[in-house]
Amino acid sequence: MELNRRQILAASRGGLAALILPKFAFAADRPDLGAIAAMRGLRFGSAYDREVMTDGAAASLLKSEVRIGAIENSLKFDWLRPDGPTANFAAADEVVDFGLKAGLRLRGTALIWNDWLPDWLKWSSVADRRQIMDRHIDEVLFRYAGRVTSWDVVNEPFFPLHGREGGYRKGYWFDALGPDYIATAFRRAAKADSQAELVLNEAFCEQDDELGQSVRPLFYECVKRLKADGVPLHAVGFQGHLKPHLPFDYGRFADWVASVAELGVSVKITELDVDDSQLPADVAARDAAVAAQVTAFLEPVLKVEAVKEVIAWQLSDKYSWYGTADWYPKDRPARSHLFDAEMKPKAAAVAAAAAFRASAAR
Ligand code: XIL
Repeated sequence: MELNRRQILAASRGGLAALILPKFAFAADRPDLGAIAAMRGLRFGSAYDREVMTDGAAASLLKSEVRIGAIENSLKFDWLRPDGPTANFAAADEVVDFGLKAGLRLRGTALIWNDWLPDWLKWSSVADRRQIMDRHIDEVLFRYAGRVTSWDVVNEPFFPLHGREGGYRKGYWFDALGPDYIATAFRRAAKADSQAELVLNEAFCEQDDELGQSVRPLFYECVKRLKADGVPLHAVGFQGHLKPHLPFDYGRFADWVASVAELGVSVKITELDVDDSQLPADVAARDAAVAAQVTAFLEPVLKVEAVKEVIAWQLSDKYSWYGTADWYPKDRPARSHLFDAEMKPKAAAVAAAAAFRASAAR
């Protein structure tokens, strides 16, 4: 037996009850999460990249489910400029064109990030590095102005475990320019594309462990300072790579998110998925645990009216980044996403649909 779309939607209204439906219940259909979210004034999106050029099923799933496309890698500094300061935009252009033809609003991730930078940058002088940063922001934002309309201008500003004063993440940008690199990047981005939505994106805040608890106040104070200084910051993003094996209290996280929004920013969940590396190997048990984590997170977070967008970090397990991470177990494929490797909705998709339906209208 396979459920048709109406039955899946009806099941999704049942919230947790839907999670105990047999596995085959989620087999064939497309729930259209984008439409369900839109009924509450929410926008649902997903990361995607070049895989959609050669995988018709993945492309079709993306087109039918999402309203926002976040370009997973092709616009990142190391992908555009792997060998030196001159960029090659060929691959990124194709990925952008694909998203526009699919009718998506596009997000760029990530303009300035202290992680994943090419080695050649380390040999540049401080003065050169400042210029390289300016040039990168100018070239990328000019090129995609009006097409990529929202940008993570700075990604992951804080990582207290690096031991830098102020808890900043170390890396070639921070080490050369200091904490000011954040305001500098936002100001430059606003000059290059005055219409773009400029976002500060952060990891770990949703965790209630020591790391999450230490990043939250740093992030809050940073947003407060940027706003007080008149820096063009429009929205904040919280990644939402959920980790069920770490302490979490998503109600508390949601309260904190509401307090950040009061500083004058809208909020996005930018990279939703579930790290299932430490969940049971059994597929049914793992899928139920992933879905329960999606529910536990989205229900309180979507009560915060300032949260306007939820973006999954890829729709299908087939393109999970967890499989490529060196710390992820190699003996079993990740089941971290809303759709399985055959592009079929899993319990997690039903859980997301239920949470969208249960959220207040924006
Ligand atoms: C990841 C991509 O998913 C991988 O394909 C790539 O190899 C590394 O980057 N936080 C972020 C994202 O902000 O940009 C990262 O994306 C995942 C963690």
